[in-house]
Amino acid sequence: MRFTQPKLPYPQDALAPIISPTTIEYHYGKHERAYIDTLNKLIEGTDYENMALEDIIVKSDGKLFNNAAQAWNHIFYFFQFNPDGMKEPSGKLRAKIEEQFGSFDEFKKKFEEAGATLFGSGWVWLSSNAEGKLFITQAPNAANPLTQNLRPLLTFDVWEHAYYLDYQNLRAEYLHNLWDIIDWDIIEMRYAD
Ligand SMILES: [Fe+2]
Repeated sequence: MRFTQPKLPYPQDALAPIISPTTIEYHYGKHERAYIDTLNKLIEGTDYENMALEDIIVKSDGKLFNNAAQAWNHIFYFFQFNPDGMKEPSGKLRAKIEEQFGSFDEFKKKFEEAGATLFGSGWVWLSSNAEGKLFITQAPNAANPLTQNLRPLLTFDVWEHAYYLDYQNLRAEYLHNLWDIIDWDIIEMRYAD
């Protein structure tokens, strides 16, 4: 197998009650796993076999793009959480958020709105360009800012499989609660890299 599923850096019940162990069991254990398994099957014996995952995302389309991007998106999503992490950004990213959005609270409101108003399945992203400018984008299905030459910093999964077991139809509540488990040290590091 070319790509292996990384182990979560926290126990399955660490994000409860924001994300329940049952949601982790299905979302990480079955959905993320299936995207990685399918990706591995699709690249076997092709020119993509020895490519970095990011290169596959930028160069592929159709079924391969969908599974490569969903594999990357889910790994990125689950690695931004830590129930004991920094609850707010503090460094260079904090300053940029305040400069562009007015305040950290205004930024959170805009980000939640983008997630709540995305029609159907997809992702809401915070990313930056080469000059460090920030962008909030709504992305349908598997779409990823890497294909627009942007650097992903933070993402909320708004596919129903991400929240339906815990929140049913209350997507906005799920989005609002996620801030409690985001570790801003990790997001700051992604911005500074
Ligand atoms: Fe998902």
